[in-house]
Amino acid sequence: MHASLLLQWLSCAILATQTYAAITPRSWDEAYSMATAVTAQMTLDEKIGVVSGVGTFTSRCIGNNSPVSRLGIPSLCMNDGPAGLRAVKNTTGFPSGINTASTFSRRLMNARGVALAEEFRGKGVNVFLGPAMDIMRNPKAGRNWESFGPDPYLTGEAAYETINGVQSMGVMACAKHFLANNQEHWRYGLSADFDDRTNHELYMYPYYRAVEADVASVMCAYNRINQTSACHNAALLGPSGSLRKDVGFKGFVVSDWGATHDSAADNANAGLDMEQPGDYILIGGGVYKGLKAAVNGGSVPTSRIDEMVVRILAPFYRLRQDASFPAPNFDAQHPDGTGTLNLNVNVRSDTHTALAREVAAASVVLLKNKGGVLPLKSTGTAGFGSAAIVGKDAAMPKDGCNLNECNDGVMVVGWGSGSYALNNVVPPVTSLTSKLQSVNPAIALSTSLTNDLDAGVVAARGKDVAFVFANAMSGELGFYDVVEGNMGDRNDLNLWWKGGSLIERVAAVNPNTVVIIHSVGPVSMSWSNNPNITAILYAGAPGEQAGPSLVDVLWGAKNPSGRLPFSMDDNESSYPGPIVYNSLGFPTINYDEKLLIDCRYMDANNITPRFPFGFGLSYTTFAYASLSISSGPSPAAYTVSFSVTNSGSVVGTEIPQMYLGFPAGAGEPKRVLRGFEEVLDLGVGQSRTVKMTLSQREISIWDVVAQKWTRPSGTFTVSIGASINDVRLTGSF
Ligand SMILES: *[C@@H]1O[C@H](CO)[C@@H](O)[C@H](O)[C@H]1NC(C)=O
Ligand SMILES: *[C@@H]1O[C@H](CO)[C@@H](O)[C@H](O)[C@H]1NC(C)=O
Ligand SMILES: *[C@@H]1O[C@H](CO)[C@@H](O)[C@H](O)[C@H]1NC(C)=O
Ligand SMILES: *[C@@H]1O[C@H](CO)[C@@H](O)[C@H](O)[C@H]1NC(C)=O
Repeated sequence: MHASLLLQWLSCAILATQTYAAITPRSWDEAYSMATAVTAQMTLDEKIGVVSGVGTFTSRCIGNNSPVSRLGIPSLCMNDGPAGLRAVKNTTGFPSGINTASTFSRRLMNARGVALAEEFRGKGVNVFLGPAMDIMRNPKAGRNWESFGPDPYLTGEAAYETINGVQSMGVMACAKHFLANNQEHWRYGLSADFDDRTNHELYMYPYYRAVEADVASVMCAYNRINQTSACHNAALLGPSGSLRKDVGFKGFVVSDWGATHDSAADNANAGLDMEQPGDYILIGGGVYKGLKAAVNGGSVPTSRIDEMVVRILAPFYRLRQDASFPAPNFDAQHPDGTGTLNLNVNVRSDTHTALAREVAAASVVLLKNKGGVLPLKSTGTAGFGSAAIVGKDAAMPKDGCNLNECNDGVMVVGWGSGSYALNNVVPPVTSLTSKLQSVNPAIALSTSLTNDLDAGVVAARGKDVAFVFANAMSGELGFYDVVEGNMGDRNDLNLWWKGGSLIERVAAVNPNTVVIIHSVGPVSMSWSNNPNITAILYAGAPGEQAGPSLVDVLWGAKNPSGRLPFSMDDNESSYPGPIVYNSLGFPTINYDEKLLIDCRYMDANNITPRFPFGFGLSYTTFAYASLSISSGPSPAAYTVSFSVTNSGSVVGTEIPQMYLGFPAGAGEPKRVLRGFEEVLDLGVGQSRTVKMTLSQREISIWDVVAQKWTRPSGTFTVSIGASINDVRLTGSF
């Protein structure tokens, strides 16, 4: 071993057992002065090194730039992805973004951010490439599971908490993908065209919250918006563009990997600060190789290159990465852990495993529970004598994502850059079997990777309970394979591997069929009313603790509190804004549905989905009362308060939601989500007062003429409920 490597190894071995204390950030002003002072000492070559990527396919992190060692500036290590460290072993596979949204718990969103950052920091990663904040415009879009769903408010809150959690540990977050990266087909050049109001109120809306959390960086997307590439789009990125002027973003804009089309000057002058990676990939990448000539030739002003460097270094100083930040100790080129650069530092911990399990359990949405069949009884005659576990989705997945193998076994995360090593997955079959063995029934398994329907029926027939597993998956286009004929985006809303037929065939022979679905988003559940299907659990893409978290919910150690962060319907035409699969060249996609996606569209068109936005059952019941609405206190415009009482017979967590109806004529959707709360562990008969606030922006519309947020005059209605279609209290102001 090389001497310097040995030293690094020693310091890392110590770090592996270290837990990091939260940092106290510097102010932006102080950080900007430090960055400005250090930039003033740099040569042009050094500045260009800071703003340019180097060697994605040769260097140890997914993204890197050049250091300025003489001034104490290291190469910044950037790594995917939003749910765990990509291409690095001995890390935790946390629940996906969509499951994090499903918890409706700011507490868990934040805690997951902290834990992610502890692992990124432990591996020496300066920039966590997340959170993904892409709005689920269509449920089939390939990368939906990385983000927080179709709702701009929920997405904004989840982003805010994630960023606060990540950056509290001194790791920079990167809000992505700016903007309108809403499908995988044609993503390298499609143009998403939408109006200014839709921009501010839907696609850009969550970025206000990201910036309120002082996000260090924003990643511009592959696609074009209004015919201009996201990364050289001055209307979005420039000094008077939405991101800087309206949202007030202070950090740096980095290109998605290969998203730089056109020349160095085009990108730099439009507002792109850093390009990644350095290598030429696909249709873009490496254009900043021409930046020096552009500066020397005068097409990029010196003041602009200085600004680019300062914006990159300001968040570096703000988060105190200039003091004792670990150097990278892994090698993204060898994700299997081999090679001399991979020091295999273990950043996993019991705390992180427990948190991954807690978030996963809190994200499980109980959709049906006929006659209170769940929670299952643990012991003796109150339990049951025999059980079947059916479906390949209960089994251990293969590691890595190779052609047609991506989805073998339980679906815990989609494919692409947001995926991670699957070797630590605890599959449902393992957890359920060991839990069942403690009550000693006869167990029949049919979880082979062929998903044999006949064998499933044989296993399920005559058993006291049949657990049936099915899934649907999607992922990222790019270097990744087309999986089961799906090129990133899903082709339809069906369960994969004949999952729907498997469920129906098992239910035909077993009157106590418990269905568990792992999916990246809405799937067809045409069988949900079958009386033999006694329970349905929607477990999303829950991460490595898939099995244990499910046991927690099935046996009641965790009373379910997860809620759908989207509407669930079988019919694709319930969702506007179709994916454009076929095109002669890069298509223009007009977002004609404007603000009306998902439940907002269904609300406007009187479509009742199979399961509505915000829906999820509990093992107890809750009563709502005493709504009051008052103005203030500053800076809130209004405060809404009410009480929630556990009116059932077990401890439980309720997720009340607040939907706002704008004055008639304001041009808003009928009802928009503007609040939610996790009323944690409410005891039987216990009541708690819930307070939700509305900021000025939250009661305003984007006025395209005045170019500002304006409160429309008239009466607002407030609906408090347990889902968008289960309103318990209403009021107005
Ligand atoms: C797209 O162009 C239209 C028409 O010029 C403009 O009103 C709108 O603000 C642009 N949208 C974005 C997101 O820049
Ligand atoms: C994981 O970490 C352990 C130490 O906790 C180490 O023994 C092992 O080699 C590591 N494995 C990989 C693949 O990094
Ligand atoms: C329910 O299961 C029983 C077997 O126990 C079967 O006879 C019946 O047809 C099933 N019902 C449905 C609707 O599948
Ligand atoms: C889906 O919705 C469309 C439009 O509302 C309707 O015409 C069609 O019949 C629906 N399909 C099914 C299977 O319900």
